[in-house]
Amino acid sequence: MISYKTLGLVNTREMFAKAVKGGYAIPAFNFNNMEQLQAIVMAAVETKSPVILQVSKGARDYANQTLLRYMAEGAVGYAKELGCEKPEIVLHLDHGDSFETCKSCIDMGFSSVMIDGSHLPYEENVALTKKVVEYAHQFDVTVEGELGVLAGVEDEVSSEESHYTKPEEVVDFVTKTGCDSLAISIGTSHGAYKFTPEQCTVDPETGRLLPPPLAFDVLAAIEEQLPGFPIVLHGSSSVPQDDVDTINKYGGKLVAAVGIPEEQLRKASKSAVCKINIDSDSRLAMTAAVRKTLAEKPGEFDPRKYLGPARESMKQLYMHKIINVLGSNDKL
Ligand code: G3H
Ligand code: 13P
Ligand code: ZN
Repeated sequence: MISYKTLGLVNTREMFAKAVKGGYAIPAFNFNNMEQLQAIVMAAVETKSPVILQVSKGARDYANQTLLRYMAEGAVGYAKELGCEKPEIVLHLDHGDSFETCKSCIDMGFSSVMIDGSHLPYEENVALTKKVVEYAHQFDVTVEGELGVLAGVEDEVSSEESHYTKPEEVVDFVTKTGCDSLAISIGTSHGAYKFTPEQCTVDPETGRLLPPPLAFDVLAAIEEQLPGFPIVLHGSSSVPQDDVDTINKYGGKLVAAVGIPEEQLRKASKSAVCKINIDSDSRLAMTAAVRKTLAEKPGEFDPRKYLGPARESMKQLYMHKIINVLGSNDKL
C-alpha cells in the first residue's frame, strides 16, 4: 500500500471546495506520455493552477499504471524544480470500470478515482459506487461517481444518444454512495466528433458548424438539489478548428469534427462545475504540431525535433484553458 500523501499528491476535497466557492473549475487533463505530462506541469506552474492528472484505462494499457504513477510522483518534483513551492497535483483514475481497478489504483498511490457505473441500472451504480467510496475513504482518497450517460463512447461503454442526468436522482445517489463529486450528462460527449452535422447549424460568416447549447437548465436543477456539491463535466474539449485545419492541411482527414464552444465551458466553470475533463484537444494539438513539423522538415527523424514542438503546442493549449476558460490561474 502506497499512500499518495507520501508522493506529495493531494486529493480533490479541498481543491473542489475552493473552486466551487471561487467560481472556477480545476483542469483535469489526461496523460499518456512524458511530453503531455511535461506540458501539463509547465502550464500549471506558469499559471499557478492546481491540476488533476488523469489516467484512463487506455492510458494504463498503453503506458503501464506503475510507470504512470511514478511519472505523477515525478510531476510533483518537477513542479517544485520549476519554482512552485506547493504544487497541488491530483493523480486521478478516469472512468474506473470496476471495484478492483479502483482498489488497485488506490493501493498504488492514486489520490482520487472515478467509478463509472453510469451504464448500470441505478441501484447497481449506487451499490458499486458505495463500495468504492467505502474503500477509498479509509485512505482519504476521493471518489467521483457518475449519473446520466454521455453520448458517444465512454471508454468501452457506447450509447447512441445521451441521457441527461435526472436532477431528481442526484440527492439520493450522493447520499447513498457518499461520493465526493458527481459527473453529470448535460450534452457533452467524448472525442472530437461530439455532434453530427445534422445537430448543428452553419455559421453564415465562417461556414463552421455550430453545435446546440448544453442543457444549462438541467445543470441549474442539479445545483438546486445539491447546493455547493462538486459537479464534473466530462467530454469538454472544444475541438479548436485551427488545429483541425492544420491536421487536414498536412495530410490528415478530420471531417466535421465539432466540440463544445469555450464560452459555454466558461459559463459552466462559474457554476458548481469544478472539474472539467479535457483530452481530445491535447491530442489534436499534438497531432497538428507533429504533422506540421514532419511535413515541413521531411528529413527529420529525431523524435525530439517533432515531439518538442508538440509539447510546446500542448503547453500553450493547457495555459489557454486554465486562464481563458476555467479560470483556475493564480490559485496557488
Ligand atoms: O474519457 C475518455 C478519455 O478521453 C480517455 O480516452 O480511453 O482513449 O485513453 P482513452
Ligand atoms: P474530451 O474527449 O472531450 O477531451 O473528454 C475527455 C474526458 O472526458 C476524459 O474523461
Ligand atoms: Zn470522460
